[in-house]
Amino acid sequence: MTAAGAGGAATAFRARYGPWALVAGASAGLGEAFARALGARGLDLVLVARRADALDRLAADLRAAHGVEVRTLPLDLARPDLEAAVARAVDGLELGLLVYNAAASAIGPFLDRPLAAQRAVLDVNCAGPLTLCHLLGGPMARRGRGGLLLMASLAGGQGNPWLASYAASKAFEIVLAEGLWAELRGRGVDVLACRAGATRTPGFEASRPRAEVPLMAPEAVVEEALAALGRGPTVVTGRLNRLAAFLFTRLLPRRSAIGIMERATRRLYEGNAP
Ligand SMILES: NC(=O)c1ccc[n+]([C@@H]2O[C@H](COP(=O)([O-])OP(=O)(O)OC[C@H]3O[C@@H](n4cnc5c(N)ncnc54)[C@H](OP(=O)(O)O)[C@@H]3O)[C@@H](O)[C@H]2O)c1
Repeated sequence: MTAAGAGGAATAFRARYGPWALVAGASAGLGEAFARALGARGLDLVLVARRADALDRLAADLRAAHGVEVRTLPLDLARPDLEAAVARAVDGLELGLLVYNAAASAIGPFLDRPLAAQRAVLDVNCAGPLTLCHLLGGPMARRGRGGLLLMASLAGGQGNPWLASYAASKAFEIVLAEGLWAELRGRGVDVLACRAGATRTPGFEASRPRAEVPLMAPEAVVEEALAALGRGPTVVTGRLNRLAAFLFTRLLPRRSAIGIMERATRRLYEGNAP
């Protein structure tokens, strides 16, 4: 694309999904890449995550690089008063895009991990996106434009032993996005679940995988996801991942898909789960 073409596309994106976007889980990895990509499109940003220092550094970078306004909101997305806390912080801002990127996981045998860790998966990966879609989707629908983008995973396509609650939470995000996509498209709000595969992020590295797997760059995942907004309820990012998704959800019997996920996850984490 020419520079003029890219500038025009960024302007159209901002008109459709701006002027403000909120990225939940913005301090690292895919969330940071979303924030950088949205800043480059001229959107003003509210950045949410727990680590205030990382958010402040990113905010300073984005202001300097793109001249956009950036606010940071350090909080835990699992907090029970999430709706009130975010509502207070964004009062008066015209938010045209939500990217819900944060996730929690409990890797390893379900019964060996504390219930608190499994419940955190529900709070961050299910209650969090549900709450923010409800809070921010209403004003978008009233304005007749906007977008809700949920970062899901290929793991949400079938049961995943050793990641059972995480995979179930990602299925929740996918099915939530599909339902909202149909409900809100007549009201100008685009809803998308991004079913990403393994991606090179600090979160993935921190899970200490023992085996090599093909990893996508976060920037590539983000560009595919943003390009897919408004084109359907879900996107699988990356050619290999699209092939895997087709095999797992269309070709293989469900039991076989679960078995393959089990072997792959054990190969990654057996003897070394965080
Ligand atoms: N990486 C992969 O291989 C991969 C594959 C498929 C799907 N995905 C999905 O992509 C998304 C991002 O993954 P990632 O690998 O980039 O993750 P990551 O590197 O672990 O980053 C997650 C972000 O969420 C924030 N976060 C986590 N828990 C939070 C909480 N309780 N409250 C507030 N913020 C919280 C983290 O910041 P703080 O620590 O500062 O709070 C960080 O900014 C997730 O939804 C994941 O399921 C990732």
